[in-house]
Amino acid sequence: MKNRKKILVVDDEERNLRLLTGFCESLGYETITARNGYEAVEITKQQGPDLILMDVMMPVMNGFEATERIKSDEDTGHIPVIIVTALDTREDKIKGISIGADDFLTKPIDLEELSLRVRNNLKLKEYHDFLKNHNEILEKEVQKRTEELRETLEKLERAHKKIKFGYIETVYRLTLASEYKDEETGEHIKRTSFYTRELADALGTNREFKEAIFYSSPMHDIGKVGIPDSILLKPGKLTPQEWEVMKTHTTIGAKILSGSQSPYLKMAEEIALNHHERWDGSGYPRGLKGEEIPLSGRIMNIVDQYDALRSKRPYKPELEHERVVEIITKGDGRTLPEHFDPEVLEAFKRSAERFREIYESLRDE
Ligand code: C2E
Ligand code: SIN
Ligand code: SIN
Ligand code: SIN
Ligand code: SIN
Ligand code: FE
Ligand code: FE
Repeated sequence: MKNRKKILVVDDEERNLRLLTGFCESLGYETITARNGYEAVEITKQQGPDLILMDVMMPVMNGFEATERIKSDEDTGHIPVIIVTALDTREDKIKGISIGADDFLTKPIDLEELSLRVRNNLKLKEYHDFLKNHNEILEKEVQKRTEELRETLEKLERAHKKIKFGYIETVYRLTLASEYKDEETGEHIKRTSFYTRELADALGTNREFKEAIFYSSPMHDIGKVGIPDSILLKPGKLTPQEWEVMKTHTTIGAKILSGSQSPYLKMAEEIALNHHERWDGSGYPRGLKGEEIPLSGRIMNIVDQYDALRSKRPYKPELEHERVVEIITKGDGRTLPEHFDPEVLEAFKRSAERFREIYESLRDE
């Protein structure tokens, strides 16, 4: 029988402890408990759990401080910590992430969500441990071991594939709960509809197309529900491993939206899958080129960049309209004009003033 994973549940309330340990045990995990942050830090050092569910408000030491201590200790920093909180503001999440928390669960706890988040974070930990061990071996024996290296790289690839499939499966089920990342504002969703219809109109597409893109484009990033908050809300640049996970928001989104008869959902699936493809073939997930990319994806690609560049993100400040138009039409190194369908780019130039109006009339908060 496989070794059971051990979860440390930290909460000062007996009722919550019983509920969470009960949940975890019903999912086949072993549990240990702590009643405040101080106990959590000590037990983590002594017993090395595989994952920690951490309440926030507790006597003696709160969950943020305990998380910070666990994460800054070399022996325990690799253990995923999921903050369990009734507080559900973006500020708290950013704070939690800045002290090293890996993910969040909001009270009241939903068993389905708990199960998916725990599984996701355990998988990511396995992957990171694997990479870490792998690097240590390489450092010592790098010259002699070409053959072993190849074998190990194959293993790495398999581990990676497994994780990707894990995410897809996870998100497929998460949609049922229709979780909503709180950085995605209602205004952003409306703007997306208006910009895409504007470009579709400027390109002279027919009424059905304009209507379909209006309703389906807001779902382009729905696959982000499957990306851990620690990646999505990270204030800085992503590591190569995190970027590999991030890119799966396209295939995850397509999978979520697949199998429907509805023309809106069909187009939504097409957009989710293709909105990061580039005209010159340098995009993802498939590296499609030119007209291999459905028009809906070519339109969404430019719209997404206009709105992302204008908006404040955890990893970037907001930018002025003129600067954004310059980045899209002249390039900034990361974005280049060759990325866009020349006709879509021309349509964007003609409609740029409308983009400004749409952004400014549907601003966040
Ligand atoms: P998003 O924030 O919605 O950004 C969508 C697209 O807008 C990006 O697709 C990119 O093409 C463009 N974009 C956003 N910010 C910039 C920028 O500062 N400069 C330029 N030239 N283009 C920008 P991309 O690159 O495929 O990224 C997809 C998603 O990955 C992003 O969606 C975001 O959620 C995440 N992401 C990308 N880079 C980072 C990063 O450095 N840190 C974090 N935490 N997340 C990132
Ligand atoms: C509690 O249940 O202890 C209060 C809310 C929280 O700590 O997140
Ligand atoms: C946002 O506007 O905060 C995110 C939406 C997106 O990823 O395009
Ligand atoms: C969006 O893609 O901007 C909203 C849909 C979602 O992320 O749930
Ligand atoms: C892409 O960048 O996704 C394709 C280029 C375009 O916008 O047409
Ligand atoms: Fe995207
Ligand atoms: Fe986006």
